[in-house]
Amino acid sequence: SDEEMKRRIRIIKQKLGDQLYILGHHYQKDEVYKFADAVGDSLQLSQMAAANKKAAYIVFCGVHFMAETADILTTSNQRVVLPDMRAGCSMADMANIEQTEKAWPILQSLFGDTIIPLTYVNSTAEIKAFVGKHHGATVTSSNAKEVVQWAFSKKQRILFLPDQHLGRNTAYELGVPLSEMAIWDPIENELVFDGDIEDVKIILWKGHCSVHENFTLKNIEHVRKEHPNMNIIVHPECTHDVVQHSDYAGSTKYIMETIEQAPSGSEWAIGTEMNLVNRLIHAHDDKKVISLNPYMCPCLTMNRIDLPHLLWSLEMIDKGTPINEIKVESEVAELAQKALNNMLAMV
Ligand code: 13P
Ligand code: SF4
Repeated sequence: SDEEMKRRIRIIKQKLGDQLYILGHHYQKDEVYKFADAVGDSLQLSQMAAANKKAAYIVFCGVHFMAETADILTTSNQRVVLPDMRAGCSMADMANIEQTEKAWPILQSLFGDTIIPLTYVNSTAEIKAFVGKHHGATVTSSNAKEVVQWAFSKKQRILFLPDQHLGRNTAYELGVPLSEMAIWDPIENELVFDGDIEDVKIILWKGHCSVHENFTLKNIEHVRKEHPNMNIIVHPECTHDVVQHSDYAGSTKYIMETIEQAPSGSEWAIGTEMNLVNRLIHAHDDKKVISLNPYMCPCLTMNRIDLPHLLWSLEMIDKGTPINEIKVESEVAELAQKALNNMLAMV
């Protein structure tokens, strides 16, 4: 039963003490989230993993790219465990290293040495290593503006992987018009741009988040009609139209802080992952909080981590036979760390 699983998790946690560090992303199921020693968005979790020097095992309740980042940033004797290997990220899967290695020489032939690559942390370690090798940086939704500004101070153009929406929304906020944004289509292996190619300022990799793309202009029209006093707040992984028609847009951390600081009685429709929206609905019963999409939008891969998988991973650690260890190859880790460090130096 759930109660029995919870009891066994508590016992192992107590037994292992600070040898064990459980990290939980804000999109995790409550049943898992409440066992985390620390919770956060993807940037905070990578910083907390890097700061922990005691734990022999870091159990990462999040998705694969986050566990890889934790492995890259922790010391070599710390082991990172992902309770279910199926907890991937469909966005990270939209840019693989073979596609990127094919795209780069074509972009170089079009633009010469005027491009710097940036990658959202929602990407594989290999993509981060590619970016590190070419002197770029990683980005999270909470620091995208600063990192994009930094990149423009280095080069005339940016290749932004793998989320076109975060790239477009951020560049637009910094004053780059849509007419100066091109798309890189990794399936066709070609640049999509109407206009004079000299005008291109940012090349957006054609990837997206299958969760945040579910918030639509129709959802916004519906909320505006049915709840005229409602504020609409969305994550920048939503499409440009949705971000433009919302009242506020920002990272997971920004959304949480905005709802926390909002006055009692205020009304909020939120465009982000279901577990977080549900948690905000319950934590703020003095405010009216709903999901912008009435069907709610779960991240199916985040939800792979559940009580049975958490317990299983802890029991295997306790037995001395850990499973699902995430280990990034040292050459890849070294270059990926460069890209991460370039970002961490800015935040
Ligand atoms: P944060 O960087 O806001 O934690 O987002 C992670 C994520 O997967 C968003 O979809
Ligand atoms: Fe990936 Fe989207 Fe899930 Fe975040 S919410 S882990 S970007 S699929």
